[in-house]
Amino acid sequence: MSTSETQKRKYAIGVVGTGEEGTALINKLTQLGHDVCIAHAGSPEALKGLEKQTQAKPKETAEVAKEADLLFLSIPMKEVQNLPKELTDTCPKNCIIVDVCNYFPSRDGKIKEIEDGMPESVWVSKQLGKPVIKALNTILTECLENCGRPKNASDRIAVPISGDDPTAKNMIVELVDSMGFDAYDAGDLALSWRLQPGSPVYGTNLDLKQLIPSLSRANKEAMPRLRDEAYRKMTESDKHLNWQEMVKMLRETFEDQEKELGKSELNKSSATSGGQQNQQQTQQQAASETQA
Ligand SMILES: NC(=O)c1ccc[n+]([C@@H]2O[C@H](COP(=O)([O-])OP(=O)(O)OC[C@H]3O[C@@H](n4cnc5c(N)ncnc54)[C@H](OP(=O)(O)O)[C@@H]3O)[C@@H](O)[C@H]2O)c1
Repeated sequence: MSTSETQKRKYAIGVVGTGEEGTALINKLTQLGHDVCIAHAGSPEALKGLEKQTQAKPKETAEVAKEADLLFLSIPMKEVQNLPKELTDTCPKNCIIVDVCNYFPSRDGKIKEIEDGMPESVWVSKQLGKPVIKALNTILTECLENCGRPKNASDRIAVPISGDDPTAKNMIVELVDSMGFDAYDAGDLALSWRLQPGSPVYGTNLDLKQLIPSLSRANKEAMPRLRDEAYRKMTESDKHLNWQEMVKMLRETFEDQEKELGKSELNKSSATSGGQQNQQQTQQQAASETQA
């Protein structure tokens, strides 16, 4: 199916989570003419205002994806394990589950498997017992809502997507494109750690040319520290950061770390004379892992 055909196709979509990110998503999807059902932790009655604003239909969480082509999860990551089993048991067999969630231990508490290195969306998939596509977790709410641009616009933001099912991934790539963003297939779910907070692609509004090399610059060891540092700056700041300040802060947090790493690699190479070669090997390995 071509992009224009898919963009014309209207999906039945369930969205769980009607907070900041969920609401931006619901606005966007309903504006595109999709048939959207919504659920949150509270009662469906509490979503009457959002229904009025968007025409999305409030449901119980267990019921929200009963007829859905797509199910978006936009809730704190720790809550994935508390979702009712009926949600995924009763959704159609071919329903594509899209994981928009991110893990922040200061908010979610520590999740041992993720702390031990399991990619967040692999953990989500395990909790649900279903495959998932990771998408839209890298874009901040305000940008999702307001920064969509027509195809080929010079300031179009790129959004990486991971998952194991190429057909499902294509559908999400095209849906994201219809929202006004360049979607980039960043490989299998096992590689989706490159999309997590602490990566240079998280919240930094890169275009496609910048996004592709940045995925291979993600540093798995440094990411938890960078994620926690960014979360602290996002939440402890006495003045609320607007999205432009947030994007700047996230870019700087990563760049500062790269400068630090550059320094230590330099020190290592002068001490062992093999340091620079190791760094090149690491970069090549990262690039081939991303392409795989
Ligand atoms: N904010 C962003 O810029 C952004 C960007 C990309 C990704 N994300 C990720 O998206 C997710 C949601 O973020 P947010 O900022 O929208 O959070 P939020 O404003 O705190 O909203 C969380 C939503 O999840 C619902 N929820 C919590 N537990 C639930 C459960 N067990 N069953 C059903 N619904 C449940 C809440 O229900 P109630 O309404 O009843 O409280 C609320 O609607 C997070 O994982 C976040 O990291 C956020």
